[in-house]
Amino acid sequence: MQDGNNENSKPKAGDLPDGLFTESGSEKTPPPCILVIFGASGDLTGKKLIPALYNLMDDGLLPANFVCVGFARREKTHEAFRAEMSEHIKNYSRTKAEENELQAFTEKLFYFQSDFDNDTGYQNLNTYLSDLDKKYGTMGNRIYYLSVQPTYFSPIAEKLQKNGLIYDDADKSKFSRLIIEKPFGRDLNSALDLQAEMTKNLAENQIYRIDHYLGKETVQNLLVFRFSNAIFEGLWNNRYVDNIQITVGESIGIEERGDFYESAGLVRDIIQNHLMQVLSLVTMEPPSSLSADSIRDEKVKLLSAIRHYKDEEIDKYTLRGQYKEGFVNGEKVAAYRSENKVNPESNVETFAAMRLSIDNWRWAGVPIYIRAGKRLPKRTTEICVMFKKPPGVLFNKNEHESAPNCFIFRIQPNEGISIACNSKVPGTANLIQPVTMDFQYDNFFGKSVPEAYERLIHDCIMGDNTLFARVDEAIHSWRFITPILERWNSQKFTPEDFYNAGTWGPKGADMLLQSEGRKWKMI
Ligand code: BG6
Repeated sequence: MQDGNNENSKPKAGDLPDGLFTESGSEKTPPPCILVIFGASGDLTGKKLIPALYNLMDDGLLPANFVCVGFARREKTHEAFRAEMSEHIKNYSRTKAEENELQAFTEKLFYFQSDFDNDTGYQNLNTYLSDLDKKYGTMGNRIYYLSVQPTYFSPIAEKLQKNGLIYDDADKSKFSRLIIEKPFGRDLNSALDLQAEMTKNLAENQIYRIDHYLGKETVQNLLVFRFSNAIFEGLWNNRYVDNIQITVGESIGIEERGDFYESAGLVRDIIQNHLMQVLSLVTMEPPSSLSADSIRDEKVKLLSAIRHYKDEEIDKYTLRGQYKEGFVNGEKVAAYRSENKVNPESNVETFAAMRLSIDNWRWAGVPIYIRAGKRLPKRTTEICVMFKKPPGVLFNKNEHESAPNCFIFRIQPNEGISIACNSKVPGTANLIQPVTMDFQYDNFFGKSVPEAYERLIHDCIMGDNTLFARVDEAIHSWRFITPILERWNSQKFTPEDFYNAGTWGPKGADMLLQSEGRKWKMI
């Protein structure tokens, strides 16, 4: 029993404030529902969404009353759809697919054929879903997952609303939610227009904007690491931090997505969403609670403090690149301009690096260096918080020279956290060597980390939108990014902008740091 007068129960200097991570995580039962996937023939459905649902069922996290309806334009029977999805589960599930479980899972799958713009199709869908409700006890609850080209987001939302498939948000007896994939718009104005269109048909809290990085365990751990450990918070500011570096590198190219990449480019694909989300979690202020809005309010405050660059600053602090042919993992790979469905004179970036400034009390004066690219030497997403060196009176000379400390968050692969510090080399010579303290998820927890889509679909079923981007997050990110894209658009690529596939981007990316006496942390 707790004794109110017990010395141990009184807060002491350095105690963490209660309120963020002290509540017990009470697991609620997921409510019955039907998940309708628009674009059920697409890659995302087969490679990610269906395997994620299968694993949720395997972990007992799907509602007992649940069915999934694939909505697409091609004619297909339920059986054919189930057979295709079984193959995808066998190929892409993170756990081994057992025949009896596969059978139990695929019995929950149905197929519905229609065009995205045909009112009759939506009316029939409504009747079809009501029949499934009666048969499977799904109680009218609906989630619509739009795994389709962004140009279809608002037309589909409009048809759903018009044909009675979206309920009034005030009606708490049942729910209708819409999940949309990124990108949310292609610049500031189109994002504002899209939001205006979407909110004609849905309330903001019925819209779940997916950014799958937020579903990654290691990204979620950023908040736990920062705000449940007292030893880091005091150092997390411009007094101690020299710079922050974030790298999202991929060794793959654009695969079969030439037309998507030609209309998007690296910044819209990775930086505007995934990388800005990661940045906001690393640098935001502590939220007052773990509620979705407290966390998202803090992210928005942070995103709105990122300095917007004028043209001269864009030229100085940002750069783009495009891969030429080269070697990745010992294999020869083609140049971006020779990829399928890519303009041979394309000016689309496959790499970008930037130096950002956050104009707030905590981070004023701390440069944030970010880079992301396709066809880099390896797949890695890593955050490095690099600390200032201690005063140089003792160990900063010649053979005593110490390296700066850094915290490294490995988002993927080898998920974990490392702290780099200095140690004396055993012996009489008084030499100093940097060493690392390492935490690795799989060694410690000994089980495979769930896929991001599992967590996000589960949260949507539960009605928890904490790990989904709120519209103002997307808008603030676009406010920073749009002038950069416009400036780049007005300029042609120069020979220095190209990089060999299998390298860390154009030379300018190194110069960005070298000109300020720094360098990228070796990865
Ligand atoms: C997607 C991008 O959002 O994220 C892809 O469209 C990219 O281009 C992918 O390859 C990277 O995701 P992950 O989880 O492999 O880092």
